Amino acid sequence: MAAPGGEPALEARGLVRRFGATTALDGLGLAVRPGELYGLVGPDGAGKTTAIRALAGLIDLDGGEARVLGLDPIREGRAVRERLGLMPQQFSLYRDLSVMENLRFFGRVYCLPRAAFRERSERLLQLTRLAPFADRRADALSGGMYKKLALACALLHRPEVLILDEPTNGVDPVSRRELWALLHEFVHGGMAVLISTPYMDEAERCDRVGLAHRGRLLDEGAPLELLARSGAATFEELFVARIREAG
Ligand SMILES: Nc1ncnc2c1ncn2[C@@H]1O[C@H](COP(=O)(O)OP(=O)(O)OP(=O)(O)O)[C@@H](O)[C@H]1O
Ligand SMILES: [Mg+2]
Repeated sequence: MAAPGGEPALEARGLVRRFGATTALDGLGLAVRPGELYGLVGPDGAGKTTAIRALAGLIDLDGGEARVLGLDPIREGRAVRERLGLMPQQFSLYRDLSVMENLRFFGRVYCLPRAAFRERSERLLQLTRLAPFADRRADALSGGMYKKLALACALLHRPEVLILDEPTNGVDPVSRRELWALLHEFVHGGMAVLISTPYMDEAERCDRVGLAHRGRLLDEGAPLELLARSGAATFEELFVARIREAG
């Protein structure tokens, strides 16, 4: 089991991004180390997706720097894509293809040799407990199973860093727990994981959390430390109070 440490696997420094009159990112900064599960918690419109897109090299910045394993996600995009797994907020699978066919498609995108694909897809189907549903069409999966398939597709190339944008949104509590258990397993193996969530109570499942609001972090730390420091009884109480203070 790898302990969190060393150079950050993911780093955002003073990110600024505007869309017309809207400032989506206003100086947001965070760092995630190998073996660490970092939760970016915040209400709708806080800038979580924009920060994730900047880290994944999908959008340009008006200011600040994003780094993945020390690499620039835009200028060194190819090298970053080989080592980064991304599960966007709206992860698009082929709805008329089966679970296995979707996996095979992503295996081809990543140019995986057949033997490696076979081994990894089997392992991921087991981990996600989707093996019995390998022939089921994606559009016939439950919401939680669909997210798990999306996760399996994002992990086929064995990324060192994984970013997930609201993967538990709209997922039932049992599947939510399973998804978190999977993430903890990857993190114990040394992966750096950044997860965004609008659910404030999910903060307790992370090694560290950042509370995003209006494009910046209002607070950051280990979940229990944050609670102890504030005197609040729950994360919801703590975060809602912080957001109210920030105005
Ligand atoms: N492409 C875009 N064009 C215009 N405005 C945008 C664009 N992308 C994001 N924004 C705006 O930037 C702000 C931050 O949006 P973002 O999607 O990053 O928030 P979020 O924290 O992911 O919210 P949610 O929890 O609803 O997904 C919002 O005000 C949003 O309307
Ligand atoms: Mg979002």
